[in-house]
Amino acid sequence: MNREDFKILDTNLVYFDNGATTLKPAQVVDSIVDYYTNYTANAHRGDYDNSLKVDMMYEGVRDKVKKFINSDKTSEIIFTSGTTDSLNRVVFGFMKYHLSKGDEVLITKAEHASNVLPWLELEKELGIIVKYIPLNEQNIVLMENVKNSITEHTKVISLAHVTNVLGDTRPIEEIGKLCKEKNIYFVVDGAQSVPHMKTDVQKNNIDFLAFSAHKMLGPTGVGVLYGKYELLDELKPTIVGGGMNSLFEADGMVEYKMLPTRLEAGTPNIAGVIGLGRAIDYLLEIGMDKIHDYEIELKKYLIKRLEEIPDIIVYNKNIEGATVAFNIDKVFAQDTAVYLNHYHICVRAGNHCAKILKDELHVKNTCRISFCLYNTKEEIDRLINALKNSKDIFNIVL
Ligand code: ALA
Repeated sequence: MNREDFKILDTNLVYFDNGATTLKPAQVVDSIVDYYTNYTANAHRGDYDNSLKVDMMYEGVRDKVKKFINSDKTSEIIFTSGTTDSLNRVVFGFMKYHLSKGDEVLITKAEHASNVLPWLELEKELGIIVKYIPLNEQNIVLMENVKNSITEHTKVISLAHVTNVLGDTRPIEEIGKLCKEKNIYFVVDGAQSVPHMKTDVQKNNIDFLAFSAHKMLGPTGVGVLYGKYELLDELKPTIVGGGMNSLFEADGMVEYKMLPTRLEAGTPNIAGVIGLGRAIDYLLEIGMDKIHDYEIELKKYLIKRLEEIPDIIVYNKNIEGATVAFNIDKVFAQDTAVYLNHYHICVRAGNHCAKILKDELHVKNTCRISFCLYNTKEEIDRLINALKNSKDIFNIVL
């Protein structure tokens, strides 16, 4: 759908690497160009028209994000540089001061590096214990395994809502409920879910949510950290500087501003935030349910077509999500990606930043197809035709 808004698609390109970053519609690009061309000014600092317009646009996006994820207050929305930045702030600005030696943090081996490495760093620093909720034979999280992993020392559960390799959706509503009952912080990596389905932080009792604009038709370099007000209010700024302080004196006396400004030191990514706002409008004009259903339909069609090819191994056939991880039998994933590039088909190959998933999947590298709303069944047919010719793979790749 809406392919005419994505100029790059006129070049006969098939773009299936949306889990890495999505294409940007003209409306998003135009909103950024408009800011740079017609009303450039800094935010929260000027008393002239363009500056006031920037403030209105920038704070307007905060309100859009609030509604998009159904948070309670606009001050619960912090603009960051992306999911990685947001998760690092949760770990090093909040958890570092609320956890202590022996406290347990539950994650899984299917998490992206951004939801593993900060915890492993904190483990070294504080002596917390990072534990992995076991995945079932399909590599998904079952409530039973979540419940069995909780001990009296569990203080945090930190999970992707949708995983970036296999695309499975975690039962976050139930996990959120459990966290509330047991007084456990619930951190959600929304990088792969927020762009593709409705998000509701209140319904799911999410304490902290992180996501990136560039995976949801927006620009790179901007993302969101949502936190429940009372928690976010205790999150120490990991970056300090201009804009976030109300006063400081030579003797070291410092006062910081209230949320959300306190957590946005320095000139923000104004163009990026404006682009994110336009991307949210764009997604809402289509409708998140419609986008989700369409992408699931594409995944089902792709699985059905892949079954026509005997040498293809699919790792997440029965998982409902808009991502397919596969390999051609006995072919290195990167070779498959290079081969498909010959047909102008973009897929991602490798471990996709989920480096410990190999312990569960028993394969290190896969090719990943991750859909977005502009993909079509005709593009899938092109992929299938290319894969059917894959006897030529070594002539082309070597
Ligand atoms: N996190 C991005 C991905 O999964 C880069 O591809």
